Amino acid sequence: MARRAVIEVQNVSKDLKMGSNVIHVLQGLSFSVQRGEIVSIVGPSGSGKSTLLGIIGGLDVPTRGHVLIDGVDISRMNEDRLTEIRNEKIGFIFQFFNLIPTLNALENVALPIEFARKPQYPPMQRARELLRLLGLGDRMHHLPSQLSGGQQQRVAIARALANDPPLLLADEPTGNLDSAASETVLNTLERIRREVGTTIVLVTHSRELAERADRVLTLVDGRLVGVEVAGD
Ligand SMILES: Nc1ncnc2c1ncn2[C@@H]1O[C@H](COP(=O)(O)OP(=O)(O)OP(=O)(O)O)[C@@H](O)[C@H]1O
Ligand SMILES: [Mg+2]
Repeated sequence: MARRAVIEVQNVSKDLKMGSNVIHVLQGLSFSVQRGEIVSIVGPSGSGKSTLLGIIGGLDVPTRGHVLIDGVDISRMNEDRLTEIRNEKIGFIFQFFNLIPTLNALENVALPIEFARKPQYPPMQRARELLRLLGLGDRMHHLPSQLSGGQQQRVAIARALANDPPLLLADEPTGNLDSAASETVLNTLERIRREVGTTIVLVTHSRELAERADRVLTLVDGRLVGVEVAGD
């Protein structure tokens, strides 16, 4: 069976105005990601990684160029269609976790399942399973404010995985974790890729994490300066 690109980034640029200046945050990026691939994006702080991830996930629009998800151009789509595509296809792990402060860990993870148009899991059971997988079996009833940064991060990861999204976009998913917790997260991501065929794009400052991906894309000043196939 021919492999199909889940993501096609075509000549994407992003300009942002700062007063009378224009910052060229992304400058003519093109690449694609195949189904079931794990691709990592690395680069210095401010190089445009989060901006790129936001554009791929339809949270932001490119100034020029196109982004296709499963062959459908999302870069100029109306907000309703876009929301539909985001809900059905994309799990997003944000750099800053965006958990709902009044809901405990279990409820935060169960929420997107309750909101799914066709839920495929009993929300609480699924949430419990994912939290256990991420090493939080004993923290399910804690509010975000009662969890450490790394624990909150893992709740956010569980939430992003709740509906088995075909595409997972992760911004620094191990940014607040020690090496043992990072390992748990990595194993979880590799496991869902294996079991569900999830395509994963992750931004990271960790060389070690980056190299566990199939491919590493390097951004510098909004340009793609290198694509390497991770060696083994
Ligand atoms: N709303 C905005 N207005 C103006 N400039 C912005 C805005 N958002 C981001 N930028 C600029 O765009 C550039 C890229 O930001 P981005 O958040 O994508 O970087 P990053 O590679 O994710 O960095 P980090 O590793 O620190 O998370 C930065 O130089 C930033 O200052
Ligand atoms: Mg960032």
